[in-house]
Amino acid sequence: MNVEQHHIDIKEAPMSIIAVSSHRPSHSRHSGHRAASSHRSQTRHTRSLDRKRRQRRTRKARAARRKLQRLYRDLPNPARSFFDALTGAFTYPTFLRFFVLALASILTLGSRTVCNLLRTLGALAPGHCSSYHRVFCKRRWSLWRLAHDIARWLFDHFVPTGPIFLAGDDTVDEHPGAKVFGKGCHRDPVRSTLPIDRHVFLRNLRRRRPEPGLPREMLFLLATAKLNQAERFGVDLGDTYGRIGGEDQPPERVYLALEEHYHTRLLAYVLDVFGLPFQVVVPPFVMRQFVKMEVFLPERIGFPFVGAAEMAGCIMFDELRSAGVELFADEPDVAARIDRLYTEILTDELGHVGYCSARCSRSGRSLMRWFYPIFGRMFARQTAEISLLTDPAKLHARLDEPFDVEGLAASVPNETFVAAHP
Ligand SMILES: [Fe+2]
Repeated sequence: MNVEQHHIDIKEAPMSIIAVSSHRPSHSRHSGHRAASSHRSQTRHTRSLDRKRRQRRTRKARAARRKLQRLYRDLPNPARSFFDALTGAFTYPTFLRFFVLALASILTLGSRTVCNLLRTLGALAPGHCSSYHRVFCKRRWSLWRLAHDIARWLFDHFVPTGPIFLAGDDTVDEHPGAKVFGKGCHRDPVRSTLPIDRHVFLRNLRRRRPEPGLPREMLFLLATAKLNQAERFGVDLGDTYGRIGGEDQPPERVYLALEEHYHTRLLAYVLDVFGLPFQVVVPPFVMRQFVKMEVFLPERIGFPFVGAAEMAGCIMFDELRSAGVELFADEPDVAARIDRLYTEILTDELGHVGYCSARCSRSGRSLMRWFYPIFGRMFARQTAEISLLTDPAKLHARLDEPFDVEGLAASVPNETFVAAHP
């Protein structure tokens, strides 16, 4: 036994070695010769260990590959046909790990990190765990080729013939084209030349009632900034309390919430035309309680209330649209932009009315119709600028008439979708 054997990990050393390992080296005249011979012996020993380690590693890798191949062979035929189409994007060993991770991601709940996927798989993931991490950080595979192969498999199986319709997302800002939906709503350079006192605007934004003597243009801008605050407040409250987009919620609830966010953005664009900022303000007390009731009522009871509020909202948006177009008639570009942005909102709001009607029973729809003029008057009262902008008698007369879905849909150039009439 020589001194260098101290380097052997104590856990791996047999007990006999531990027992004699306390000997110190003797410094005799032959120590140089001994050191050289022990160095050679150590080198041989290290090489042998390396070889054994390599062999062990190779054996393990081979066993893991065999197990992975067996797993792949045991896949049900439809799943294998899908994965077979993707083999071209990877080398074979990477592909075997990719398919295991892909299947695990279907079974795993929560975040699909590689660690979580491996936790789900347990003993079903053969080989060292780092080989799965390396699929994403080290291995070379073609994302383009993978996307191409997935698309080709999907088209072959679901759209074997005929045209393929593609849906674009909301990021239309950068994409010109006559058929791009919503083109021109974003980043429009139209700016009004009308001087607007920013300080007066910001001061009145926080006031329940505007200061007396404000010009009608300022009242319009204040109404624009305040009108959607109640809906924004409701959506944010719903988000905060997990009332939107849960497992038990239908997906359209998320779309509605996203549309309400989008409306806030469109109204901010209106203010942008005048160089004014959009700010979040808390709706008045009565509106807050009203919104809370809508958010926290059980869904079946809440729909008539929400539907009636959407109907009243349509009238308010339509009134403001007309007021804006009339007020800024001297600047046709500005009037057209206001018209366009409000039209976008009104199109969606009509869809919301239709959705709520479709979710209501017949008695629910009659409740919607009954509540609608009441809510309309309340909205006009709570956003005082609307009362000052519009003729109260005319507004009340309009609210007393039956809700005219066809008339409103005809007034917007966009295609509207009203699932059911209230
Ligand atoms: Fe809405």
